[in-house]
Amino acid sequence: MSGELPRTKEYVLIIDFGSQYTHLISRRVRELGVYSEIIPHNEDFKIINIQRPKAIILSGGPRSVYENNAPTIDPRILKLEIPILGICYGHQLLAKLIGGEIRRSKGEYGKTVLRIVRHDVIFKGLSKEEIVWMSHRDQVISIPDTAITLASTNITPIAAFKLKNKAIYGVQFHPEVKHTLKGMKILSNFLFEVAKCKPSWKPEALIPKLIQEIKDKVRPNEKALCAVSGGVDSTTAAVLAKRALGNRLITVFVNHGLLREGEAEEVLNTLRNVLGLDTIYIDASKTFLEKLKGVKDPEEKRKIIGEEFAKIFIDIASKISNLKWLIQGTTYPDVIESGSGGSGSSRIKTHHNVAGLPKWLGLKVIEPLRYFYKDEVRRIARELGIPDNIVKRHPFPGPGLAVRIIGEITDEKLRIVRRASAIVEEEIRKAGLYERVWQAFAVIGDDKWVGIKGDEREEGYILTIRIVESEDGMTADWAKIPYEVLERIATRITSEISEVVMVTYAITPKPPSTIEPC
Ligand code: XMP
Repeated sequence: MSGELPRTKEYVLIIDFGSQYTHLISRRVRELGVYSEIIPHNEDFKIINIQRPKAIILSGGPRSVYENNAPTIDPRILKLEIPILGICYGHQLLAKLIGGEIRRSKGEYGKTVLRIVRHDVIFKGLSKEEIVWMSHRDQVISIPDTAITLASTNITPIAAFKLKNKAIYGVQFHPEVKHTLKGMKILSNFLFEVAKCKPSWKPEALIPKLIQEIKDKVRPNEKALCAVSGGVDSTTAAVLAKRALGNRLITVFVNHGLLREGEAEEVLNTLRNVLGLDTIYIDASKTFLEKLKGVKDPEEKRKIIGEEFAKIFIDIASKISNLKWLIQGTTYPDVIESGSGGSGSSRIKTHHNVAGLPKWLGLKVIEPLRYFYKDEVRRIARELGIPDNIVKRHPFPGPGLAVRIIGEITDEKLRIVRRASAIVEEEIRKAGLYERVWQAFAVIGDDKWVGIKGDEREEGYILTIRIVESEDGMTADWAKIPYEVLERIATRITSEISEVVMVTYAITPKPPSTIEPC
């Protein structure tokens, strides 16, 4: 695998202790122009020693450093003379490893005033007091003489410290979270002032290498299959593979009957006429919807959809001679699922995409985008000439509208949620908000409300609108969009879709609510 790593000479290793923010740390480092990779906390010391990253960051995590079997690192890492920054759990772990004391406290959550008590290059450009984002219960209560306190808050006396003779730092707060107003400045001080990194990471510069890697793997007589959904990840993977393989790449676009309004036509037109991908179109709507009849359980829906996809692919694959490869648009967050690394978090939802497919098909997999984040995939896509309607497209789940219909999928509910989602997207676009939000859509269930239309009392559906802001889909917040836009959406939905009498707006972040309802 190491041959495929898009590593630049200067890169940062992020050691994961299971925080929901681990990917955010990694993305921030890349935004600052330095390549980063996430490794599990129990990675073999020898590997880290050989890799010699320019800097190491320890993530946060849900455990307590004083628990039995608490996740830790090999203490030899502290002797490598590589600059280290510990964040939250990482801060507490560093304190413990140097002989400090950590205890449970009453906790500190949300925006907090940080007082810098000793100036250090890591806080260059900051004022004496800054707003930072805290989310912890344990705290460091003492550090040995070899270290020095750099900052405190009203609740946490040692909110940041540094080793006196080494570039090893701990911060209790989260510089990667945007509520820490100078968080990027702190990270950039660590990368450029402390670790002396040079910004050189440019994902789009790797395009020739990504194409060459596909060429090298697929032998001249072999063919590859790519399932495209019209989303930016699968389309970018297909275009890279097309450049590498020409007509030895077969692209397929399946309509499962759960796509958005006009989506099949628009995507197909872009793939075929703009990108020159000679795509096989399979309209399997009837079969999918038939199989989903009467199914209420969301996981069951996902399973059925996954199995139907598999059947279609097995059928296509059986008709193609010398088919040996499957190209997939998997991205970095899917490869490294933070939070699952030994922290015992449970699977929240099955994301099917084409999971399991390669095994059934007996195909080998190429994932050209496996080390990239979505915003990096977008940069690659733009460079490849993929048009904006795909590059800027909101993420859309593989099972499509099925996960936006709570309970049974009926023709009526499908028609309503499809039209309502189109109205939401239209209004968001008109208001110039489409590119500022991560996703915007409608959700329908079976709950009804009594309405008055004309002078008649009439029961109708309740629709929920969900519009969220997010950087990677791992955490999300509801979008505080103007009331007038919400009002236009509600008015249009209730007047254009006669079966709906009530529109609500979802105002919970993720966590606790996932983005899609089921
Ligand atoms: P959740 O709902 O888990 O969603 O907060 C996070 C992101 O993932 C998308 N999503 C899916 N994508 N298959 C997919 O390919 C799925 O089953 C699935 N469920 C959710 C969702 O649209 C959001 O962008």
